[in-house]
Amino acid sequence: MSRLQAEHLYKVFGRRPEDAVRQLQGGADRTELRADGTTAAVIDASIEVDEGQIFVVMGLSGSGKSTLLRMLNGLLEPTAGTVRFDGQDLTSLSGKELRRVRSEKISMVFQHFALFPHRSVLENAAYGLEVQGVPRAERERRATEALALTGLEGWEKSWPDELSGGMQQRVGLARALATDADLLLMDESFSALDPLIRRDMQDQLLELQKTLKKTIVFITHDLNEAMRLGDKIAVMRDGRIVQTGSAEDILVRPANDYVASFIQDVDRTKVLTAGAVMDEVGTVLGSTTDKGTKLGTAAEFRAAAPATVGVDTPLAELFVPCSTSTVPVAVTDAQGELVGAVPVAKLLAVLGEPGRPEPAAEAAAPATAAKGKVIAGA
Ligand SMILES: Nc1ncnc2c1ncn2[C@@H]1O[C@H](COP(=O)(O)OP(=O)(O)OP(=O)(O)O)[C@@H](O)[C@H]1O
Ligand SMILES: [Mg+2]
Repeated sequence: MSRLQAEHLYKVFGRRPEDAVRQLQGGADRTELRADGTTAAVIDASIEVDEGQIFVVMGLSGSGKSTLLRMLNGLLEPTAGTVRFDGQDLTSLSGKELRRVRSEKISMVFQHFALFPHRSVLENAAYGLEVQGVPRAERERRATEALALTGLEGWEKSWPDELSGGMQQRVGLARALATDADLLLMDESFSALDPLIRRDMQDQLLELQKTLKKTIVFITHDLNEAMRLGDKIAVMRDGRIVQTGSAEDILVRPANDYVASFIQDVDRTKVLTAGAVMDEVGTVLGSTTDKGTKLGTAAEFRAAAPATVGVDTPLAELFVPCSTSTVPVAVTDAQGELVGAVPVAKLLAVLGEPGRPEPAAEAAAPATAAKGKVIAGA
């Protein structure tokens, strides 16, 4: 069950926003409205996020990402549409109720986390709990734990200006984690960091998420970051979500030319995995190799395959084995069960046809049975 649902959200800035929503529903676009000085920041956006999921919203500057995020925690009131967290409609709450939900259930981490310069790292990390009125001893204990989770053990008594930018950002993350909020909203949280530190933070978030299983909405304009972190990715353009899917869906089945051009420079061999492109084992069985070996059973196929890889193995690692044999590479799941086969022709086809948009009907039903994870950071 999804924990966070936003349905048909609109945010219009300017005069008579409700009229603008009606115009948009009637087919007007953003440019027409802008002529009257009205900005349609978010248009008909719907998302669903499950517990334990990292939902990435990706798009160019001005596409509406931050506006969408601010509606998710009620910092901005939607012009139309609803936001539900754990079944509770945030758009119907009073100001007071909303503040309570926000302080207990939702945490935000911004791009430049503003730490209080005259408070220690510990006090900064404990700030969210202080706002909630948690007694000092308990908030210090919880903040100390959260700092340890983000790798800042031993820095509790330091001042913010004694920390590097990356470490300060970790304090921001620790503050969000200390409150035990289940919903984390992260707006370009790692964008100001150097590439190596940024990667490190991404790893840490993925690692933390394995145990904490928060519901996370993560905003970025960085495609590689999106691919790396996102269980699901929504691509925004001019206020609208133009595609939602896994990294693999978006790479293999871009919904339109815009998404296709967005992803054209991604190194697909590093992002796509064996699991994402493999054929069913049945497609190999019954064939005979060029050396005359019959591949009648799964065991015979495995014995003849030039390599056996996991579903998570990036395609880049399949080229060498594929070049040595005409038999497909065998693919196994985490339990070591044979789940698929990657023939060399499939490998080449994936590279030869980078991201062509598919007809809407096909794009709507892209799921495959045993999907591999997509790895990141190509
Ligand atoms: N308070 C506001 N009043 C008027 N227009 C606004 C307001 N906030 C945002 N906008 C407009 O809404 C559009 C979307 O802005 P938003 O900040 O959501 O984009 P973004 O995708 O987060 O961009 P960036 O990547 O630069 O942060 C922009 O055209 C912006 O000018
Ligand atoms: Mg923004």
